[in-house]
Amino acid sequence: MNDPIFQELRFRNLTVKNRVFRSNISGRFDNEDGSLTQTRINWECKFAKGGVGAIISSYVPVLMEGRIIAGYATVHRDDFIPLWAKLGEAVHSFDAKFIMQLSHSGRQMDLPGIHNQHRPTLSSTSRKEPLHGFLCQAMTKADIERTVRAFAHGAWRAREAGLDGVELHAANGYLFTQFLSSGINDRTDDYGGSLANRARFLLEVIAAIRDAVGRDFHLQVKLSAIERNNVIPWEGKGNTLADSVQVAKWCEQAGVDALHVSTGSLFPHPLNPPGDLPIDVLAATYDVLISSGVYGFRNFLLFRYPLLRPIFRWIWFRMKKGLPFEAISIEEARAIKATVRIPVINTGGYQTASVVREGLESGAFDAVAIARSLVANPDLVEQWRDGSDRPAVPCTYCNKCLVNAPENPMGCYEQARFPSRDAMIEQLMSIYRAKPHLTIPSPAEV
Ligand SMILES: Cc1cc2nc3c(=O)[nH]c(=O)nc-3n(C[C@H](O)[C@H](O)[C@H](O)COP(=O)(O)O)c2cc1C
Ligand code: SF4
Repeated sequence: MNDPIFQELRFRNLTVKNRVFRSNISGRFDNEDGSLTQTRINWECKFAKGGVGAIISSYVPVLMEGRIIAGYATVHRDDFIPLWAKLGEAVHSFDAKFIMQLSHSGRQMDLPGIHNQHRPTLSSTSRKEPLHGFLCQAMTKADIERTVRAFAHGAWRAREAGLDGVELHAANGYLFTQFLSSGINDRTDDYGGSLANRARFLLEVIAAIRDAVGRDFHLQVKLSAIERNNVIPWEGKGNTLADSVQVAKWCEQAGVDALHVSTGSLFPHPLNPPGDLPIDVLAATYDVLISSGVYGFRNFLLFRYPLLRPIFRWIWFRMKKGLPFEAISIEEARAIKATVRIPVINTGGYQTASVVREGLESGAFDAVAIARSLVANPDLVEQWRDGSDRPAVPCTYCNKCLVNAPENPMGCYEQARFPSRDAMIEQLMSIYRAKPHLTIPSPAEV
């Protein structure tokens, strides 16, 4: 009864039944036009049934040009509202809340899709994205205004769909990070230079959302507390913890209800998701990305030939030295929580009940957001309730789920966790269940 993990969490406009949120997980569940499918509903229900208090959705683009990959649900059209409403209803039926993550890729993508292929995407800067080499062009004031409106419309649609709130994806290298980051933003206008200028775009979006949905709809912001943007060694380091503490305070003042603390100014980043990077698996799945950016083929060669892999290994693993996988950004969350009054959610490797309890009790955060350990054990929360400190067959942080994401179905790919390869594949296929209500279109519909 007194376990802090199972205490309600009260935000200003939203109450969640416990302190475990399913963190955002993107997967190619949906249609090319951005309409969501039964598969996504089945996927989210797995975690709602498993006992999490709330689900924070995958990356949901507010514009088609803001996609990171085709086949992820979007929120750029009013006629998608009933689809999101269905998903919300399904998650609510398991007594969990659903928060939609509103997003825009800017220059950071995986597979750009037909809307962005062979043309530069919008960003704060015209310098290409350093990992895959996506081309981009700095947004004009008109581009910024249009994008601000798109976020506000997205939030409005989420509210109309009866969802429980929205999260702005201002972490991990996507469009908001491209504005916030001192390592990326090279503008000389009102949106570049000082931290206040770099935060302007995010704060304008927050204000526009408040205008569109009022004060009583839950709004949270996911931030990278420390950017460590120099994964490619010659890039600038980006924002420090002190910068992010200041941005967090501005978000609170602007009417944000909670902060979701992550780390790293790219996705993926050596520290996010924390763990391994299986380069042999990457060599097999990166082929789809070869034509994505101007560095795609170079990267493929680095992964494909074992003699070249040490180069990439050095680049990737040098930042991880001495850092744990579990609770990797706990001290960053603690520093932010110490300066704001709104609740703070922390993400990064959580899997052990005693670690989460200690973080809650010591005031580091108010809740955790978990992705991979829930992919591995969707009933993790129930296992904790039954007294386990750690699941019997834990997530190994191998990141095979991550590197399979562009090419294969979402799920756990650590074969050693399953009795057989067939059992692993059965788990991957379990969300694709045919439903009898497919209809034959009328001639007019065709
Ligand atoms: C396959 C995969 C997809 C992810 N997709 C998203 C996403 O769409 N939006 C986001 O903010 N974070 C995304 N993340 C990051 C997670 O939400 C989470 O913050 C990170 O993995 C650290 O938590 P974990 O150690 O519990 O996995 C993703 C992570 C993985 C492994
Ligand atoms: S593949 Fe499975 S074990 Fe590996 S990180 Fe992903 S969820 Fe965890």
